Amino acid sequence: MSARPDETVAIGASSLRVPSLGVGAWSWGDVRYWGYGERHSSRDVLDAFMASVEAGATLFDTAEVYGHGASEQVLGWLARRSGAPVVLATKFAPLRGRGGAKALLPALKNSLRRMGVGRVDLYQIHWADFEEASIDDLMGALADAVAEGLVTAVGVSNFSASEMRRAHAALDRRGVALASNQVRYNALHRAPETDGVLDACRELGASLLAYSPLEQGVLLGTYAAGRVPTGPRGEAPWFSTEHLAAAAPVAALLREVGAAEGDRPPEQVALNWLRAKPGVIPLAGARTGEQAARNAGALGWSLSEAAVARIDEATARWR
Ligand SMILES: NC(=O)c1ccc[n+]([C@@H]2O[C@H](COP(=O)([O-])OP(=O)(O)OC[C@H]3O[C@@H](n4cnc5c(N)ncnc54)[C@H](OP(=O)(O)O)[C@@H]3O)[C@@H](O)[C@H]2O)c1
Repeated sequence: MSARPDETVAIGASSLRVPSLGVGAWSWGDVRYWGYGERHSSRDVLDAFMASVEAGATLFDTAEVYGHGASEQVLGWLARRSGAPVVLATKFAPLRGRGGAKALLPALKNSLRRMGVGRVDLYQIHWADFEEASIDDLMGALADAVAEGLVTAVGVSNFSASEMRRAHAALDRRGVALASNQVRYNALHRAPETDGVLDACRELGASLLAYSPLEQGVLLGTYAAGRVPTGPRGEAPWFSTEHLAAAAPVAALLREVGAAEGDRPPEQVALNWLRAKPGVIPLAGARTGEQAARNAGALGWSLSEAAVARIDEATARWR
């Protein structure tokens, strides 16, 4: 059975315990990609935060690059003002020209300042670019952050299985666990099942944090050819005409399964399909209180085995 709202799971072998559903805060303050200020407001973000917390979804994921720091700022403010017992995850961007691994501690301190906290729960390397810093150097800097008491647990994001193994070994030499790898994973993008990442997570005892679990709305049937989001988001391959056409029957299936599983909305079916996979914690983005409440409603119930198998079978081509 999946976790009930009052049940928690560990992030990897770390001391962090979280509900098995997190909330992505990328759109909170991000103007360019998500249209913050135009499509949703600070009131919507406050509602999304509160609706999540009230439903027990208390793990929040952000990054220093989301809205150029605005997402960290608003998330930290909400966490402090509400006093809610939240778990905060953010990320270091290994951007070129930044000075490699020695840029990590100053960047982390800037993230802490923006969030207004003394320590972050989970600190992740945002993507795998080792042009200016080797995996060993980056992991060394993460271990230093743990030693300084600035972070509780550390993880990576967009790392391949072999990169994960190298990261795990480097951290292990410093006595630190690799808690997680955050990668794109949803019913229309099942690569982690075949590229070795899910297996590596299980073998190394790390959690797989699944980002874009709703394929940015495509899995819900929100978008059709000619109605894709404006700006850079709409240029992503998952908003292509061909992909939207191929995705439409899957969106219909999620609705059908949801109706049969106690009148559940498709977002909860999509999220609980991921929660049914051992070691996987989806991170669902929400721009509004209504979206956040509907997503968090995935906690407290699980899909039948038959429903999981049906979705597995219908989406096998995206493995
Ligand atoms: N590590 C990385 O490289 C990386 C990359 C991407 C994301 N992430 C993390 O993962 C989180 C989630 O990923 P994501 O935001 O890309 O994708 P997502 O969670 O699949 O989609 C979020 C978007 O889907 C729509 N939506 C969400 N809930 C809905 C609902 N109940 N009903 C209708 N529409 C709904 C909203 O957009 P509209 O209303 O505009 O359709 C929302 O902004 C991010 O916030 C971020 O923390 C990490």
